[in-house]
Amino acid sequence: MNNAQLQAIESIIKSQSEGEILTLPASVYQSDWFDVIDKTAVLHKSWQLVAHLSQLQHQGDYVVHEVADQPVIVVNTGDEIKAFHNVCRHRAGPLAFENGNAKTLMCKYHGWNYHLDGRLKSAPEMHTTQGFNVCDHRLPEIKTAQWQGLIFVSFDEVIPSINEVMSGIAENIQPIDLSQMKFYRRDEFILDCNWKVYVENYLEGYHLPHVHPGLSRLLDYKSYQTELSQWHSYQYSPLDQSDSFYGQGQAHYYFVYPNTMLNILPNRLQTNQVLPLINNQTKVIFDYYYPNIADIEQLIAQDQSFSDEVQDEDIMICEAVQKGLNSGSYDRGIICQKREKGLQHFQQLIRRAYASVLDKT
Ligand code: FES
Ligand SMILES: [Fe+2]
Repeated sequence: MNNAQLQAIESIIKSQSEGEILTLPASVYQSDWFDVIDKTAVLHKSWQLVAHLSQLQHQGDYVVHEVADQPVIVVNTGDEIKAFHNVCRHRAGPLAFENGNAKTLMCKYHGWNYHLDGRLKSAPEMHTTQGFNVCDHRLPEIKTAQWQGLIFVSFDEVIPSINEVMSGIAENIQPIDLSQMKFYRRDEFILDCNWKVYVENYLEGYHLPHVHPGLSRLLDYKSYQTELSQWHSYQYSPLDQSDSFYGQGQAHYYFVYPNTMLNILPNRLQTNQVLPLINNQTKVIFDYYYPNIADIEQLIAQDQSFSDEVQDEDIMICEAVQKGLNSGSYDRGIICQKREKGLQHFQQLIRRAYASVLDKT
């Protein structure tokens, strides 16, 4: 790390002691160098959502995913759910390009073939290669955890447990049980903005009346609340039942640091994952889940078209904000303490992650 980089991090951390009502500076949403720190100090040191048990019900079912430059494959081995780097030990080929079911995991490059538990089973035409022994090779495993049917991985052994990160959520959403939901559909969006711009936009309801007129009619803005926990924040609002096609209940919007959202409405779970790509682009993944109940089709159709409308509005504002951050006319702003508590909480955790980088230099 060079001096300019050290000074940049020091000034970001110092801004905390000057009063947390100031936002992070524009530079953290721009530089390639912060991308590396975001991936290694934030995303690789946290639980990353990769699948739901409903996608891995049978032996041999597998799901592929990519988190901050790490290709991952999650497998039902018949005994348990395991996750591996989706990277063959021969010359780094992929075991799978898309989700599926198989008796073994065969590399797509030259056909090395792995048992579902990651041990190498066979490797074509390798028997005459000196020093090669099938038993010496296996896919490297990645730490996994399950919570309410959702499967997470971590690339770091030393992070808080998933139950600590999710503390209080299962109790609060009762009688909803997310493990009873079934995966229905995935949508992916590529945005021209830094991943933190999208996360921060999610973390405040301040923009609702201006950006989302339709959503504002569904939710009661005056009753919109944000509560903070150590590793997550919670936004909620009663549904206006005269308008709501979701039925009776409450909208629960959980943000789980650093990049996962759980949007829970009666009879519906939508997870969002916010993933940085190169060149300051962001991939946002929406996975939809619904329970196995009668007459759900109409709710699904309405839910998805309504979500698309809200997402289009969010994409437009996030990409405009990124242009503002890039303009050179703006560095830091003041956070609205009544409406942007969740954003402030996220920025505190980001500052702490950046400080951990300094500690290691
Ligand atoms: S890279 Fe997998 S078999 Fe060659
Ligand atoms: Fe929004």
